[in-house]
Amino acid sequence: MKFFIDTANLKEIQEANDLGVLDGVTTNPSLMAKEGITGKQNILEHYVKICNLVEGDVSAEVVATDYEGIIREGEELASLHKNIVVKVPMIKDGVKAIKYFAKKGIKTNCTLVFSAGQAILAAKAGATYVSPFIGRLDDVATDGLQLIEQIVHIYDNYSFETQVLAASIRHVMHLVQCAEIGADVATCPLSVITGLLKHPLTDIGLEKFLADYRKGNS
Ligand code: E4P
Repeated sequence: MKFFIDTANLKEIQEANDLGVLDGVTTNPSLMAKEGITGKQNILEHYVKICNLVEGDVSAEVVATDYEGIIREGEELASLHKNIVVKVPMIKDGVKAIKYFAKKGIKTNCTLVFSAGQAILAAKAGATYVSPFIGRLDDVATDGLQLIEQIVHIYDNYSFETQVLAASIRHVMHLVQCAEIGADVATCPLSVITGLLKHPLTDIGLEKFLADYRKGNS
């Protein structure tokens, strides 16, 4: 399973990368705005900074919603760095653009996916990644993990090459359950990645080991 960090914060990206387990980064316009990154040039430069920090795929989202606009923006994003993945929303022109990018060898991440039908379309169009948003589904009393399970099953049926990128992950159990289901990638906040470290018995056990060492070596 690949771990992506879901942020545009350079310090958090560096911290996750330093742990040695990071495979990539996902961003979206809201995450960029949260970091105060505004204006086209600043946004493009920020993507390059992220690409220079991490050896792995970096999703950069288009804001155009028409076919020509998505193509223009996506090609510009893809030309920034070899690791840029063009993030395209699951809309009609988005699906058409994903097909175009696939033919040109430009990697894509089909975002805002909330149903198995949408995931089938993304795979048929040749998306590199499909991003079902599990947390947002849970928020509206729908089982997000069940959708991941369904998509993994469907993709297996037809050997689709599109990778299932579980997004909108809110807590450690989301990530663990995505791993059980067999999602290819999980993108999550730093707190979820570092949350994997935690177990009270680890802390208690370590304290005891160190206390016993000190007793014998003081
Ligand atoms: C990542 O690709 C998605 O944009 C992100 O996971 C959405 O997360 P949210 O639902 O917490 O905003």
